[in-house]
Formats: sequence, C-alpha cells, structure tokens
Amino acid sequence: MDMVRVRGVGKSFKLHAQGGAEIAVVGGVDMTVATGDAIALTGASGVGKSTLMRMIFGNYLCPEGEILVRHGGCWVDVARADPRAIIDIRRETIGYISQFLRVIPRVPALEVVAEPIRMRGASEGESRERASELLTRLRIPETLWSLSPVTFSGGEQQRVNIARGFAVPYPILLLDEPTASLDKENRDTVIEMIDEARRGGTAIIGIFHDGNVRAAVCERACDLTQYRLAS
Ligand SMILES: Nc1ncnc2c1ncn2[C@@H]1O[C@H](COP(=O)(O)OP(=O)(O)O)[C@@H](O)[C@H]1O
Ligand SMILES: [Mg+2]
Repeated sequence: MDMVRVRGVGKSFKLHAQGGAEIAVVGGVDMTVATGDAIALTGASGVGKSTLMRMIFGNYLCPEGEILVRHGGCWVDVARADPRAIIDIRRETIGYISQFLRVIPRVPALEVVAEPIRMRGASEGESRERASELLTRLRIPETLWSLSPVTFSGGEQQRVNIARGFAVPYPILLLDEPTASLDKENRDTVIEMIDEARRGGTAIIGIFHDGNVRAAVCERACDLTQYRLAS
C-alpha cells in the first residue's frame, strides 16, 4: 500500500538577507514509498536530501508539486495542509529523526523519550517504562535519564533522539543521518530497530552517509542528483 507519493516537488530558497538571491535546489521530484519499503535518499552533500525530508515533515514549505501522505486512511497533501493537520500527522503518522536533537533545557532525557508515548494517550507509568526500555537498549546509562541532554555528548544526544523517534510506531518514518556519530555497537542496534520497524510495515525514508548502513537498511534509492537544479 502506498504511504507517500511525492509528485513534481520543487524547492528554492530566497535569501532575503543577501539581496533576495535565489538558490534553486530541486525540481520535479517524483518518489513513491509503500508500506514496509525502505528507500534511501542519495546524492552529494547539498543536493537537497534534508530539504526534501523537511518538506515531507512539513518543516519547510513546499512551493511546487504535491506531497501526499496516507494519514488515517485518507490522502493528505502536506504541501497544502493547515498547521493543525500537520500536528495530527506528526503525532500519528510521520516520525522524524533529525540529525540533531533539539534539546530543551530542564527536560530530562526520560521525559524527552516518554512524551510522544503520552501524547498517544498512554499513562505516565506506561510511558516511562517504555522510554526506559528504549534508553536501555540504546545504552544510555541510567544515571543520565533524569538529566537534560543539554550536557550529553553528541552520540548520547543522537541516541536519545533515536529513542524518541522509535517510542511509538509510526506508519512513516523519516531518518536523517541517524547513525552519523555512533560507535559500531550502537549503529548495529539502530540498524536492527529500523529493520524491525520496516518488517512491522513502516514506510522508511532515510539519509545514510555510511554506505554500509544504507545497504543494510534500504533496498532501493532515490538519487536526487537527477532532480538537481543549477543555481
Ligand atoms: N533554510 C535554508 N535557507 C537557505 N538555504 C538552504 C536552507 N536549507 C537548505 N538550504 C540549501 O539547500 C541546499 C540543499 O541543502 P540540504 O537539503 O541540506 O542538502 P543535503 O541534505 O543533500 O546535504 C544547500 O545548498 C543548502 O545550502
Ligand atoms: Mg542533509
């Protein structure tokens, strides 16, 4: 079953601070991702991989084309959806593990991970228990759970971010370089978690700098080089 249909998507950035100069990124992007699919976005640095992912998540406006997402049995065009619909989609349908954790001071790591579980209606206790399991699996020492990730190392922050992204099952999961600063053991755990999600039916779109990780996780790739616009 198709979960994401990207049709004719184009994007450029207008740099207001620099005399309105325009940076054309991509044009005419077409991509379809189905249940249980894992597709890698590829192409050189700067080609527009993260930009496309942010448009699918509704973080960046999509000025051209359609981004259809199957949400609660209906197709929603993220490019035209209102902010309320985007909030619903992010709670129920699309998970996004960005490259960096947006750390909020004073919010403990355990709470960062438990939040999406509670947002789906689970009790405080249940949410914390599930969050503990994830932090344990990703080898975050229990002594850190009650602290804000502000002072954590890059790799620890990334693992908290991953734990949060996997806290509830999403029909669609976006992964932007999730394993970039992890050691081999944790990288293998993340590959395992991605694979479990995929086998459970999640449609996965990923960006993986490491070719081995990409090959381990994804069965096909969408090379954005073909959609690159010269700027
Ligand atoms: N918020 C932004 N404002 C201006 N330019 C941006 C912004 N985000 C990305 N870009 C530009 O868009 C292009 C693609 O960036 P990105 O999607 O991050 O590439 P990739 O993830 O493939 O390395 C780059 O030239 C980048 O500088
Ligand atoms: Mg990127």
